[in-house]
Amino acid sequence: MPSMAANNLPRKNDTCNNNHTQSIEAAKGDFVTRRQRIQQQRKSLPIASVEKLLVEEVRNNNTLIVVGETGSGKTTQLPQYLFYGGFCRDGGVIGITQPRRVAAVSVAKRVAEECGVALGQKVGYAIRFDDMTSASTRIKYMTDGLLLREALLDPCLSKYSVIIVDEAHERTVHTDVLLGLLKSVQKTRSSVSKVMNGHAQNGLLMGAENDKSFLMPCHGKKLSPLKLIIMSASLDARVFSEYFGSARAVHVQGRQYLVDILYTHQPESDYLDAALITIFQIHLEESHGDILVFLTGQEEIESVERLVHERLRQLPEGNQKLLTFPIFSSLPSEKQMKVFMPAPPGFRKVILATNIAETSVTIPGIRYVIDPGVVKARIYDADAGIESLDIVKTSKAQALQRSGRAGREGPGKCYRLYPESEFDKFEDSTTPEIKRCDLSNVILQLKALGIDDIAGFDFIDKPNRTAIIRSLESLFLLGALTEESKLTDIVGHQMARLPLEPVYSKALILSSQFNCLEEMLIVVAMLSVESIFYAPREKLEESRAALRCFSSPEGDHLTLLNVFRASNEFVVKNKLTHSKEKAEKNLRKWCKDNFINSRSLRHARDVHSQIQRNVEQMGLRITSCGDDMLVFRRCLAASFFLNAALKQPDGMYRILSSGLMVQIHPSSVLFRSKPECIIFDKLVRTNNNYIRNICRIDYLWLPELAPQCYGLR
Ligand code: CDP
Ligand code: MG
Repeated sequence: MPSMAANNLPRKNDTCNNNHTQSIEAAKGDFVTRRQRIQQQRKSLPIASVEKLLVEEVRNNNTLIVVGETGSGKTTQLPQYLFYGGFCRDGGVIGITQPRRVAAVSVAKRVAEECGVALGQKVGYAIRFDDMTSASTRIKYMTDGLLLREALLDPCLSKYSVIIVDEAHERTVHTDVLLGLLKSVQKTRSSVSKVMNGHAQNGLLMGAENDKSFLMPCHGKKLSPLKLIIMSASLDARVFSEYFGSARAVHVQGRQYLVDILYTHQPESDYLDAALITIFQIHLEESHGDILVFLTGQEEIESVERLVHERLRQLPEGNQKLLTFPIFSSLPSEKQMKVFMPAPPGFRKVILATNIAETSVTIPGIRYVIDPGVVKARIYDADAGIESLDIVKTSKAQALQRSGRAGREGPGKCYRLYPESEFDKFEDSTTPEIKRCDLSNVILQLKALGIDDIAGFDFIDKPNRTAIIRSLESLFLLGALTEESKLTDIVGHQMARLPLEPVYSKALILSSQFNCLEEMLIVVAMLSVESIFYAPREKLEESRAALRCFSSPEGDHLTLLNVFRASNEFVVKNKLTHSKEKAEKNLRKWCKDNFINSRSLRHARDVHSQIQRNVEQMGLRITSCGDDMLVFRRCLAASFFLNAALKQPDGMYRILSSGLMVQIHPSSVLFRSKPECIIFDKLVRTNNNYIRNICRIDYLWLPELAPQCYGLR
């Protein structure tokens, strides 16, 4: 293990006064104890006892499945074992993919700290819109989607000596596609190393025989075989092992203490309220230990957080020692790290998390879990050709995994906010995402990789035929594919290059022709983040009044544009007169005064600068339509035409492409005015089919701007 170099610490110097010297010594002391504590923790992890064995297994097998209980140390330790085991000797990189951004970032930070190195050097991470790696990075955490994008530029993934696909049991669509791709890359690289010893074939390398899906340029590089490790928390290693030709699977024993499971007698009508009551019941009646609450998204998390604070203020001072920590994917990384810090003495932490805390991140100190039994999931209605984000019941496997979080360090309790009879009705395990999502993005990426036969691709679980056909159809209508389902020369390739949903990419490309790319960049960035506005129950009127300052009668897109521009003006003015820190603080205050979620706005600003770089690299012209918002709305209609809907006599809307009946979400600025014809951004299903982010359009624009869909045939 490298030890922390002494010169990384602040040095004594002559000008130090005595107090300063003492505080440096104290800091040094703290530092040493923290490092010692971390080393101690590492040694006590279940995986530590099998370090040598695991390294040997990886040496002896090109593909290995590693299964182990959450918290046993797989994600943080195995890459380090392999690094010290010599798997980076020739400059190779160990890549570890995660389904979620938060996990990639938080784990990379932790491992950099364990190794005593600065983040971005030997240990780094890369996620969409944020790259913290350098030429010296050898252990690289990233999202699975990001590695897929890297394959577009380097089809043999030649810089990696080892790739670890972590959290494979989650079966996200990216994980599934990645598994297929890696299987192919692995075969190719094995044959490359053989060919290299003999003769190369004009710079192009065929995948293994029978592998009809691949023909990839490897540019005559000398490549070692790719080591592939599939890591999973659940016990179902069989499916992965079979997929990789009876690959060897090893199990890492974890520790799990008894968890007492409690159910409600009756179903709960409002699970947020039930969660809130349970938090306080535990806080006031149960002995020490932190609480983990599973919620479905940022909006719910932030609203429960506010309610907890509100109720806390009503308690006697002695009972107020409860601290809330949110964790969800788009949380800025310095905030994410806070959940791992122990609570100050006498305080109890309550962590409000999405299902990210099921397996992706292990938070120490949890003794109580509150599980409402729901999760937000992508659901695709192939007949209607529409994807939505739905709040759905968890599976039994998920419920078990959630309750397990309470028993990592000692016996715990799990409060399921539903009756036991409900649990019996849950599915055994979660359906892989590829079987329930829109495949347009996946297809676009596979096509860009030169894989044309989508139905013939070696998926671990084949997606539905109807879903494939539907997605091919919508890509064709968006202009990304030819009638023969080949990527179109300009638009198709440009769309595949942008790290966005196909329809957003289409909107950006079109807007450069409509001369409103400046506006579209802002709107796409704002649409890419969750909940820009917040409306606390107790200040509903005030927040509505604040929204009115920005709101546009044309709809939410233009409203979002107004917010972004107003914030920009504020930032520019502030920068002139204040330091960076002060300017940021002022912006947070401005957000608070205007009921704008500063986290989301900050995220949107980051996304904006990143996609601006992307479109500049592609050579698109960034021009503005000025005050002519008609042009901008026409551009929205020309891009989001598949999401066009028409008002019905009863005030509902009918989606023209599918006939599905939907209603405008109450958060929309058009909720009351209900224009005749609209386009929307997303469909969200709870008890109702709600559409969010709406823009008023003219019905007659559709046949004019999207004749491929609405033209007379
Ligand atoms: O991947 P797996 O679930 O097997 O475990 P891991 O993520 O490697 O976590 C191993 C240990 O590191 C756990 O005890 C975590 O609590 C700890 N850890 C931490 O303290 N801070 C982090 N940012 C990540 C992990
Ligand atoms: Mg893990």
